Amino acid sequence: MNILAIESSCDETAVAVVRDGRTVLSDAIASQADMHATYGGVVPEIASRKHVEAIAALTDRALEEAGVSKGEIDAVAVTYAPGLIGAVLVGVSFAKSVAYALKKPLIPVHHVRGHIAANYITHPDLEPPFVCLCVSGGNTMIVDVRDYTDMSILGSTRDDAAGECFDKVARVLGIGYPGGGPMDRLAQGGDDKRYELPRAHVHDAPLDMSFSGLKTAVLNLAHNAQQKGEVLDLPGLAASFGAAVSDTLVPRTMEAARQMGYGKVAVAGGVAANSRLRGDLERACQKSGDKLYLPALSLCGDNGAMIGCQGYYEYLAGNRGAADLNAYATRDI
Ligand code: KG4
Repeated sequence: MNILAIESSCDETAVAVVRDGRTVLSDAIASQADMHATYGGVVPEIASRKHVEAIAALTDRALEEAGVSKGEIDAVAVTYAPGLIGAVLVGVSFAKSVAYALKKPLIPVHHVRGHIAANYITHPDLEPPFVCLCVSGGNTMIVDVRDYTDMSILGSTRDDAAGECFDKVARVLGIGYPGGGPMDRLAQGGDDKRYELPRAHVHDAPLDMSFSGLKTAVLNLAHNAQQKGEVLDLPGLAASFGAAVSDTLVPRTMEAARQMGYGKVAVAGGVAANSRLRGDLERACQKSGDKLYLPALSLCGDNGAMIGCQGYYEYLAGNRGAADLNAYATRDI
């Protein structure tokens, strides 16, 4: 079964062709990151307009790279939530038109479910149930993946997403946008104990997280240093920051894994590329005896392949988008 998959929830337009859920025939991506870097963050209207410009040509490219004709497409999967509403609407409207023209089923896919599915592509042996830490620019949550289309949130951030926190801190430190990758590289040469940064706990909700205090602490450090004319140790700050984020995410993920007892832990989303987080999770899983599944670096960020993969399982579960399918900025997983 060939699924044409469309993703446009933030600043990447992505179209893929995926066969039978786990075989990626093509995965075309047009990133707008350079454009938004000028503004230090994603400008929603520009994102929507760039999706409008890119999506049709990108679909032709994905079909060509897959060696699949339009007639060989069996269904169209699309991210319908969550994301920047204008951006998601572009993908949904386009996917609807393609499904309508080809007379093929339309499959709505939750973006975070898609991120989780990136692990099925990387690890052909992975099957639910497992616990998944989902960490991206817009979402940070620990998910109980009971089955391919049956999941619930065990814990989540009460304020900023971890990726958003990386991006805001990087912007203030003048490291660029998106900041996660550059912060990660900068941290390689730094002392992770150089700066004392907070690790927040949410009262009475041990699996929930909070990153706003950590973000503010770094912003205050930068502000004070500027006022006093002091030079910050940037590698040390990046390393200390990465450690604080990982120290917030890893123990909660491991506690969720212990509670669920599946013996399998996965990670998903753009921040899953973070080397400190990956290393800390590897050590924690070695200690607990859980098997760790990390997505390929190329599948951590937004892509169409993950939507095609999850779309396949949604299709098998009978989930279809009707002609009045809408887009949503937020939606429970
Ligand atoms: O999954 P993604 O592409 O978009 C969303 O669905 O939100 O995630 C993007 C986020 C950005 O905040 C980016 O800074 C972060 O992932 N990111 C990283 C790394 N690479 C990307 N954060 C930490 N370390 C990285 N190596």
